[in-house]
Amino acid sequence: MSSTLIGIIGGTGLTQYPGLKVLKEEKIETELGTTSAPLVYAELAGKPVVFLARHGHPHTLPPHKVNYRANILALKQAGVTEIIAVNAVGGISEEMGAQAICVPDQIVDYTHGREDTFFDGVFKPLDHIDFTYPYDAVLTEKLVNAAIRENVVVQHGGVYAATQGPRLETKAEIIRLEKDGCDVVGMTGMPEAVLARELAIPYACLALVVNKAAGKSEGLITMDDIHAALESGIQKVQMIIHNYLKNTD
Ligand code: HPA
Repeated sequence: MSSTLIGIIGGTGLTQYPGLKVLKEEKIETELGTTSAPLVYAELAGKPVVFLARHGHPHTLPPHKVNYRANILALKQAGVTEIIAVNAVGGISEEMGAQAICVPDQIVDYTHGREDTFFDGVFKPLDHIDFTYPYDAVLTEKLVNAAIRENVVVQHGGVYAATQGPRLETKAEIIRLEKDGCDVVGMTGMPEAVLARELAIPYACLALVVNKAAGKSEGLITMDDIHAALESGIQKVQMIIHNYLKNTD
């Protein structure tokens, strides 16, 4: 009997998880609203998982309109014991070219106006949780080891910049993020990570680079380029998750 129940939150390019043996799909209305999509109870690599499409299925919810609190609360109530978040990102640091994968260990949050806590004095009494290390180090390391076993190159550690979107950044904004020490930039890493921490769910991120961040390559960023990078890159992400599941109890 498996003791872990792994939640997978799929981002852009992963609104449907190939190879899932679906057991049940459940539309969830939490005390904090509806989840982005039904929870998909399934088996993957012989292990029970719960899959959630962050942007809905089909992909319609922009990053700032995702009900992150409902999503994390629903996963907690489903009994999920850890969360693997898959995020498409832009690459800021030199090594983070298209299709690179970063397993970040830090976050800088540039988002605003999102419902970003359960401890708001309404849903739960005010509290100040520790968030020094925003990702679960053990889960992060296990994912990196799974990548090594699959011969998928990943960067272990890095700073994820969470921006508001849905527009991409200006060149000057990326220069600022780089000065702040950020390696990759995406729109959905926060408040998802902090909400998982608030509910004590170990959470780690597989950040797939789908474009060089603004001003980091010749020319402009096109959705065609992003989709091309997503299509092949997401397979590497799936290989990591598959290997991790196979090797977990
Ligand atoms: N910036 C922010 N979010 C993103 C990017 C980017 O360049 N690419 C994919 N998600």
